[in-house]
Amino acid sequence: MIRIAAVGDVHVDEDVVGRFRPALEELPDCADVLLLAGDLTRHGTESEARCVAREFGGLGVPVITVLGNHDHQCDQVPQVVKVLEDAGITVLEGTGMVLECTGGRLGVAGVKGFGGGFAGRCASDFGEPEMKAFVRTTNESAEALGKALREMECDLLVALTHYSPVPDTLAGEPLEIYPFLGSYQLGQAIDSAPTALALHGHAHAGTERGTTPGGVRVRNVAHPVIKQAYSIFHLGDHLE
Ligand SMILES: [Fe+2]
Repeated sequence: MIRIAAVGDVHVDEDVVGRFRPALEELPDCADVLLLAGDLTRHGTESEARCVAREFGGLGVPVITVLGNHDHQCDQVPQVVKVLEDAGITVLEGTGMVLECTGGRLGVAGVKGFGGGFAGRCASDFGEPEMKAFVRTTNESAEALGKALREMECDLLVALTHYSPVPDTLAGEPLEIYPFLGSYQLGQAIDSAPTALALHGHAHAGTERGTTPGGVRVRNVAHPVIKQAYSIFHLGDHLE
């Protein structure tokens, strides 16, 4: 059995430092890894990233993250990534990593993802260059995730995104903003590999549980949804 702790959308700044830490200190007793589903910061500044590093760095378990849209806001992504990686936090973007856990080899492939919408109600690669660029961003992001998932050599495969791969976990959000919360292409990427679990954030008013068209379990771990420092998933014979 492999034990995965996960949370997204923690939006850390000075005033949040210390709020998660007591629960995080308990991770070595209950999880093999902590996965963060993006939106670690409020505006993606280097100083906010330093707060994230203080809160989520130096834990007794590996920490793997993707960035979210908020982490891009101030165009300081390289600085944010460096601060996080200096704190021992692995940042995935169209990439993956394999962890040797007691219960087997865990492969985590991650990408921020992007919007675009879902079957029958999605943006299409047609018309103005701006619309084509929007859809191209979505497609490239999903293709990178799918490639990273398919290349992983492991016993259990997990997909980590910020944007949602399915509409199920958006239930509770206004329908009008679904196209800005995720895209079906991410779901297709997840279904292109033997993925055991897909984790995402971004949809603060969404719902915890969903499934891809191919039957992969999806969990929205945005902090406002799970209402705890992290959720724990036990992967092995069955998913809890
Ligand atoms: Fe977000």
